[in-house]
Amino acid sequence: MASHRNLASGTIPLNSSRIPPDLEPNTIRAGLRTGWLGQTLECVEEVDSTNTQVAAKGRAGAPSGLVMVADRQTAGRGRLQRAWHSPESVNLYFSVLLRPPWQPQKPPPVSLAVGVAIAETIRPRLSHPPALKWPNDLLVQDRKMAGILVEVAATRNRIDHVVLGIGLNVNQESFPPPLDQSAISLRQATGRPTHRGELLAELLNALEPLLETLNQDSHDSMIESWNRYFAWQGQAIRVQTGSGEIRGIALGVNAVGALRIRDERGQEHQLLSGDTFRIADPLPK
Ligand code: BTN
Repeated sequence: MASHRNLASGTIPLNSSRIPPDLEPNTIRAGLRTGWLGQTLECVEEVDSTNTQVAAKGRAGAPSGLVMVADRQTAGRGRLQRAWHSPESVNLYFSVLLRPPWQPQKPPPVSLAVGVAIAETIRPRLSHPPALKWPNDLLVQDRKMAGILVEVAATRNRIDHVVLGIGLNVNQESFPPPLDQSAISLRQATGRPTHRGELLAELLNALEPLLETLNQDSHDSMIESWNRYFAWQGQAIRVQTGSGEIRGIALGVNAVGALRIRDERGQEHQLLSGDTFRIADPLPK
């Protein structure tokens, strides 16, 4: 396992001189209004991937609600084995450990809850509203500001732990090609820098109640919120799935988080995974 320089763990900073001021654990804690999320908090200077490290902590018995945030990642990972651009001192890279009571066959749509939490947190700062792209991206002005990576460790009968990884472009002023064509930061969208630690605390405050609704029978209001933020509602899209491509009109997500899409024959499909793209030339409704 790759090592990481652990700057502050629990309440005891190990080497506070290296902690970037806006990721100080005490500042993050001061903003937290949560009961359990982030109450175990690790702020690290450099890590391969917060998801990799939090998964290791999950296997070693760390508590549900643990959050690790890194100033930079050397091997940040996205969905579909893509790399996640993780330069130092500018963005938020963090992972959350959960030990949920979900059945492995019927996990609730946790990445949608994370998307709603990010959207609700950044919305007051923006003049252009954020939009959610199914399943795991947050867009602003049609560019990606945040991505979510959910990794589940389960046997056939039981989920041991879940790692939620979130990358949020906060203060980056420019992106290298080809990301300059598709990414955006909060700073680029607002023209102002944002304190990363305060933003992280706000985000965790918004996320905790949404995660709690996932343990209840119904999380309809979270799904309604997600649909309100859905970037491509009513638009022509194509979805790349493991078994091929489906084209049609996007109808939003259903109660279990599946994407509803109506094809040109009028048949509705409900997809639980895939990669979505907008079609420039719309299909007839
Ligand atoms: C995606 O859009 O494909 C998901 C990106 C998730 C990136 C975050 S950054 C923090 C955490 N650690 C990782 O290695 N990945 C996630």
